[in-house]
Amino acid sequence: MRDLSHVTGSDALILGIETSCDETGAAVVQGGVDVRSNVIASQHTLHQEYRGVVPEIASRAHAERILPVIDQALRDAGASLGDITAVAVGNRPGLIGSLLVGVAAAKALAWSLGLPIIGVDHVHAHLYAGLMRTGAHPAPALDALYPALGLVVSGGHTAMYHCDSPTRVHRLGATIDDALGEAYDKVAAILDLEYPGGPALDRLASSPGASDDAYVLPISRLGRGSLDFSFSGLKTAVLYAVRGVPGRDGAYPHESDSLKDDQRRDLAASFQRAAVEAVLLKLRRALESVQDEPSEDKPPKRRGKHGDGRPGSSHPYRTLLVGGGVSSNSRLRAALTEFARTSGMALHLPPLPLCVDNAAMIAGLGFHLLIEGRVSDWRMTAQPTTSA
Ligand code: KG4
Ligand code: ZN
Repeated sequence: MRDLSHVTGSDALILGIETSCDETGAAVVQGGVDVRSNVIASQHTLHQEYRGVVPEIASRAHAERILPVIDQALRDAGASLGDITAVAVGNRPGLIGSLLVGVAAAKALAWSLGLPIIGVDHVHAHLYAGLMRTGAHPAPALDALYPALGLVVSGGHTAMYHCDSPTRVHRLGATIDDALGEAYDKVAAILDLEYPGGPALDRLASSPGASDDAYVLPISRLGRGSLDFSFSGLKTAVLYAVRGVPGRDGAYPHESDSLKDDQRRDLAASFQRAAVEAVLLKLRRALESVQDEPSEDKPPKRRGKHGDGRPGSSHPYRTLLVGGGVSSNSRLRAALTEFARTSGMALHLPPLPLCVDNAAMIAGLGFHLLIEGRVSDWRMTAQPTTSA
């Protein structure tokens, strides 16, 4: 293995590789902070006609694109393979055939160049995506951020985390059925919107005249104090609002094309309101659940008047870290901004290109694993599930 003793933290150039689902990504990140390049080859057009990701098509497309995407990321960064310090790859969670393409490419490159290889948990990397410098987006000082409350809202995952550092994260709760992005995509399909559904639904819900209280839709709470999420009931409520409740024969009373444009728009807005409120409800609970717990650097104070995490209450979190495709949603971003403000936390949302799947976040988190000595060995492989 190459001697890396001369490399200082701020010099380290990490090549990140991301192929967990339907985006083929490669990026070069310097010192864990500066995004020197971030290339994403989207497969949306390949999966459009199926209204969802077809795993076999996804892995074939990754195999065709991965080398040109890596070449492009190096060119954009003005770097060559000889400049790279280590290779980081998203090796979990995701579609196994897709992950294997990235892992094989990363291992081959690292092996042939004598570089360390670092397997990175894709969901944890989403929590890091908002902490890098790219374009006009500044990077915060990491030592002022933790402990942080983390939220990942993507097409495959919806979970909350207690974060003590970029690499030390502990899951507080997760969805028990659909991920939030999955619910957006399915509801968009019910409303006959274009694929991918999340951004289309966001646009329709935000269009002039949309009424977000035209339909009363359920906001899942689960058990008392539960920090898990559930979105399948909300999705089914939209389906029934559109097509009626199915009869004993399973047939729906209405066709989905019987929907008028204003109904479609109001349903989109009502769904979006309920979905965002369901996320906020769990964030509030997460703060309530730690109100009386002491933390290392912040002893418990008097419980806030409302016990809801406002300044003066005793939750330990300095920051709210959010990532995943749905963190680009306009209503969610506005609601999170207000929630963080009233709860006394600094909010770190990624810029839009780093909300969705990307390799910069893999390289960024990979850097922290590298400086902690947590490099992988050659047995590292693709895993379908997250590590925590
Ligand atoms: O993080 P991501 O690229 O992939 C996964 O790790 O799953 O997230 C993709 C998801 C899709 O479900 C997509 O519809 C959703 O993010 N999404 C949105 C918006 N932009 C992307 N959902 C709601 N509003 C948006 N503006
Ligand atoms: Zn993702």
